[in-house]
Amino acid sequence: MAEKVVLAYSGGVDTSVAIKWLQEKYNLDVIAFSVDVGNEPDFPAIREKALKLGAVKAVVADAKKAFISDFVFPALKANAMYQGQYPLATALARPLMAKLLVETALKEGAKSVAHGCTGKGNDQVRFDVSVAGLAPELKILAPARDWEMTRDQTIDYAKRHGIPLPVTAESPYSIDQNLWGRSIECGVMEDPWAEPPEDAFIWVKPIEKTPGKPEYVEIGFEKGIPVTVNGRKMEGIALVQHINELAGKHGIGKVDHIEDRVVGIKSREVYETPAAQVLIQAHRALESLTLSKEQLRFKELVSAEYADLVYNGLWFTAFREDLTAYIESSQRFVSGTVRVKLFKGSCAVVGRKSPYSLYRHDLATYDKGDTFDQSAAAGFIHLWGLPARIQARVQGKKKKEG
Ligand code: ARG
Repeated sequence: MAEKVVLAYSGGVDTSVAIKWLQEKYNLDVIAFSVDVGNEPDFPAIREKALKLGAVKAVVADAKKAFISDFVFPALKANAMYQGQYPLATALARPLMAKLLVETALKEGAKSVAHGCTGKGNDQVRFDVSVAGLAPELKILAPARDWEMTRDQTIDYAKRHGIPLPVTAESPYSIDQNLWGRSIECGVMEDPWAEPPEDAFIWVKPIEKTPGKPEYVEIGFEKGIPVTVNGRKMEGIALVQHINELAGKHGIGKVDHIEDRVVGIKSREVYETPAAQVLIQAHRALESLTLSKEQLRFKELVSAEYADLVYNGLWFTAFREDLTAYIESSQRFVSGTVRVKLFKGSCAVVGRKSPYSLYRHDLATYDKGDTFDQSAAAGFIHLWGLPARIQARVQGKKKKEG
């Protein structure tokens, strides 16, 4: 009996070619393993395809719930956006896939795991580092990194082995998608000067086709997690899907990003992430109401570190656990409701409220009911400005003389 390998299988061209390749070149029994993170509509068909290509077994794991609760919502609490633009949909799914891949390999008694990533992207880093962090004894095979075929050669190989090709001349993009967003690469977008064509987008309507009237949506949060929409309780998966639809309908969520990959390449990455845009914006609005100035400022630093770490494939590290501890702690009063206005490609926060709001009307108002003691301001400013006055007196004159 041949040795077993568990392959992370998406049903796409590269991983389909990988099934054949692992059989031919390495003489392995391939177990195709697919993870449902809201990425594909038809997993039975993917399973079928794997078996037809000679996989000895094909397994599908529904991981949508775990994806939302253990990856997406923690990232939302962090307001994680790589380089301020990319909400990390693909990057967040990879460690979860790697974890399930490892569990399956151990259960099946396989000595190695495999994935279809090329040697140029970030996903190979995320898979390899995650697997290494979870089960260092497992061998990792990356056929697409080894075979070094061009796109045309891969397609040629696929044709020769009877692998059906979904990538046609009309749909020349490389897509990765899940509940948190859709990543679009290749085609004309490889020219950073070329505008992303409308046919690259599926979730986000072109502005010309969005409703002529704004739509108001109220999002309720509990400890940093969105739990209601317009007062109605929703669980995570449904809530994210619902906001994706609402915001996408209003043309919200396109991202056109010149991104710095882990391997040093600058690449043009286009995304559709309607729910992520709206939820992160709303979450930030609630934080600005319920966190102190110092908490907000420090959290910005933590957030940037966290986003980099997720992007760089370092999910299963002590550092991620440490940052998560701070982020979790910071969310204990981030409960309340945010009202957003969706219209013609823009999402504006127009209202926010919380039982833990630090905004005090009696302090902020210029009308009657003011409780702020203005006479105290003079003494405060006298001390606050003391160092500035001393420095100006001692050194200010010298500077002019010198
Ligand atoms: N640039 C994004 C990232 O690194 C998206 C990658 C898309 N991956 C893919 N296999 N098509 O997270």
